[in-house]
Amino acid sequence: MITKYKIRIALCLILTGGLILSAFIAESQNARIKIDIDRKIGDVDKNLFGNFVEHLGRCVYGGIYEEGSTLSDENGVRLDVLDAVKDLNVSITRYPGGNFVSNYHWKDGIGPKDQRPPRMELAWERLETNRFGTDEFVNYARRMNTEPYFSVNMGTGSIEEAQQWVEYCNVKGGPYYAELRKKNGFSEPYNIKYWSLGNEMDGFWQMGHLNAEDYSKKALEAAKLMRLTSPDIKLIAAGSSNYRPEADPNEWNAKILHELRDVIDYLALHMYVGNPDDNYYNFVSTPRVLEERTRVVKGMIDREMQNAKRGNRPPIYIAWDEYNIWYRARAEKSMAGTRALEEHYNLEDALVISGFLNAFIRNADIVKMANMAQLVNVIAPIFTNDKGMFKQTIYYPMQLFAKNMHGTALNLQVDCETYNTEKFFIGLGESTTQQKNVPFLDVSATCNNNELTLCVVNRNKEKAIPTDLISQEGLFNGDFEVYEVNGPDIKAGNDFGKTVVETIKKPSIKVKKTNKISYSFAPHSITMIKGSIEKL
Ligand code: AHR
Repeated sequence: MITKYKIRIALCLILTGGLILSAFIAESQNARIKIDIDRKIGDVDKNLFGNFVEHLGRCVYGGIYEEGSTLSDENGVRLDVLDAVKDLNVSITRYPGGNFVSNYHWKDGIGPKDQRPPRMELAWERLETNRFGTDEFVNYARRMNTEPYFSVNMGTGSIEEAQQWVEYCNVKGGPYYAELRKKNGFSEPYNIKYWSLGNEMDGFWQMGHLNAEDYSKKALEAAKLMRLTSPDIKLIAAGSSNYRPEADPNEWNAKILHELRDVIDYLALHMYVGNPDDNYYNFVSTPRVLEERTRVVKGMIDREMQNAKRGNRPPIYIAWDEYNIWYRARAEKSMAGTRALEEHYNLEDALVISGFLNAFIRNADIVKMANMAQLVNVIAPIFTNDKGMFKQTIYYPMQLFAKNMHGTALNLQVDCETYNTEKFFIGLGESTTQQKNVPFLDVSATCNNNELTLCVVNRNKEKAIPTDLISQEGLFNGDFEVYEVNGPDIKAGNDFGKTVVETIKKPSIKVKKTNKISYSFAPHSITMIKGSIEKL
């Protein structure tokens, strides 16, 4: 017999069951990021947060260096720019090119400034005054607290000229070029550790372009002379530049790796992406293509390492020593002269840059160097005029990563909704791709002693994504700092006197020994969360 009492119990059970079920549904609707601090990918190299200074447009002249400006010191260094550069924490800076270096003769840029020869600059069509050269760059690098990384001329330059540059920079005294440095006022050697053997030598646009066989031969001999001069230097070979449909980039990479596997320390790869069709979801998935290329080249390196004779030197790593967004300033008139390659960035560009940085962290076992191209004015995070400067949107994620992502990269498990892209061009005139199952949340994490740092990009343009961060080894404990880069909409950008997109410090998340933190990531945002994990 069904009594009133039994009905009440049944209703109670249904209600409780319903509550449990709805709690379960609510929980399972959240995205999940599972963090296990014991699942390590590799050490994050500090050189992942590098940049690049090329004699191009207003990167050097009118950018970091402007003689006669009231904003500059007595050496011509723009102090407002230097402050912004310092605050970016650039770990390593490549110099002096780029395409420029393939017809650059370093001896033009040393000695008394008024006696240096002005030259026609053929890569980007300017007059190169040579008033800024090796000594000025090394000095600048010290002031910005970065490791200088030089690129030698493998186009119109000779292997002897490369050797002499190493001698000028790294030999204490005795031979002619070491003594010349001393005579120029620099008694101590610069000890430049990183040297690249040319730039984009696979490209038909490169002055002195070579085929893979000729480049390998020249690079091998240059490497020999350079190492005989300074045995501890690290050498970076010019791998394939942006993948182009007419070229077979992997054939170039395979040949170079095979021929140079005993002598090089890194293979350089370059990548520029764009959004020419104005398709947000295609665009924000482009860092996945960089990750695919990384995996392909890693396999090629692994194959060559099986038979390489490297003594006790580590294996070859990948240096993404040029990457960025570059598609607006590609028209003929913006490709040359003193205003070349001036891109004005917006929030969606900042999301893409964070995607690149996440990809570098997730591949920290093989990617040991990355250089955003470039530092000031030329496809750059800092933009100047003769009265001041402003920080572009892409400055902020770069700064967050450089300041916070250190230690060991973690292998995360991310469960969230995904989307498929259309077939699209990656940049202008380049290969096409279609990306399937792109997660709306793009995530990377590092652990430094007990400190966990997580970077989460929410690619969803409209929706916030409520997410559970779940620690599988150890407990979250204490205050977790939260930083967000966002803006009113994906096209929002900064300008002189106007900062719309920047890093905002949000209220901290306070937890006490728990294995779960719930957080809702705002639409089109970059969020960095930082705090400690206590091991059980
Ligand atoms: O960064 C701009 C240019 O892009 C570099 O000079 C060249 O290496 C690449 O093609």
